[in-house]
Amino acid sequence: MRATAAVLYEVKKPLVIEEVELLDPGPHEVQVRWVANGVCHSDYHLMSGDVPHPLPVVLGHEAAGVVERIGPGVESVAVGDHVCSSYIPSCGKCGYCIGGQPTMCALRDKPRWLMLDGTTRFRKNGTSLNHYLQVAGFATHSVLMEESVIPIRKDAPLDVVCLVSCGVLAGAGPVFNRAKVPPGASVAVWGCGGVGLNTIQAAKLVGAGKIIAVDVMPQKLAWAEEFGATHVVNAATEDPVARVQAISGSGGVDFAFELVGTQATIEQAVLSTHRGGTAVVVGVCPAGTKVSLDPALFLQQRVLTGSSFGAGHQRTDVPMLIDMFMSGKYKLEELISRRVPLGDVNLAYDALLKGEVKRSVVLY
Ligand code: CU
Repeated sequence: MRATAAVLYEVKKPLVIEEVELLDPGPHEVQVRWVANGVCHSDYHLMSGDVPHPLPVVLGHEAAGVVERIGPGVESVAVGDHVCSSYIPSCGKCGYCIGGQPTMCALRDKPRWLMLDGTTRFRKNGTSLNHYLQVAGFATHSVLMEESVIPIRKDAPLDVVCLVSCGVLAGAGPVFNRAKVPPGASVAVWGCGGVGLNTIQAAKLVGAGKIIAVDVMPQKLAWAEEFGATHVVNAATEDPVARVQAISGSGGVDFAFELVGTQATIEQAVLSTHRGGTAVVVGVCPAGTKVSLDPALFLQQRVLTGSSFGAGHQRTDVPMLIDMFMSGKYKLEELISRRVPLGDVNLAYDALLKGEVKRSVVLY
């Protein structure tokens, strides 16, 4: 069949929006009609070349849609089911999945742009097009492994809950699952865009005490306050480490979350914690990034860790967050600044880089 997709052929060039051929789903694969896909910074790392990736590739990994066809042997999902994409699949059988760490699933060891048989389902003029993170959400239709879709309730608006498929769970999960922030704890959040606002919102939900937002853009700090920040620090005009330490009132925060993805912000996040504190890296860094930290920080029992896709159980965390949204306990609509057609996806990335939007959503 035919689909319309946004394809990255060359780094530092705009995405090409074009009609492509979509092959039938193979065994244990499903064909999904996407309804919406959020505009996330991770795709931009491929467009800029900061993160090298085999090209050409259909981008997009924050998608929601409806299952249209299933291949032989598919049992976990049926035609007509509403699904969110799972950019980290979980097979349910490997040691990680059985051991309670499905975001570490062994399927991550396979090439993340191919189906499990080592081929793709997209063609253009005889050329094979890769599937970004085995999702390819910037397309009207896509084929995915059944492990890459998460069934969700049918009354949830797909053009809103698509955000849970990456930014929302990636931002909120580290608070719930990785740091397990207890009530009253002090929290600092580096980076208050479409992911960090979820970290702030989750910290508020669990009853954190001080929630200190750090960014270089005043607009993002204003959004942070709307989502629950109790204090804001503009790192463009003040020393963020000294300010966070001062606001904490105890030499540093209990937990620092880093959602920017640079050496400087990771180091600042660690330095902003007090002895015994924890810093969690969520931001995606350009390839080759290294950090430099005095080991004495760790002798003082600080912990530096990271989080993938919420560090919990994606197949239950995604429906749980959607339930919270549907019952009015979690803000999602407020994260969406713009809804755009696929033809405007390059403009949506320009807006993201300028800091004009929390999240844009591409609608099909
Ligand atoms: Cu993402």
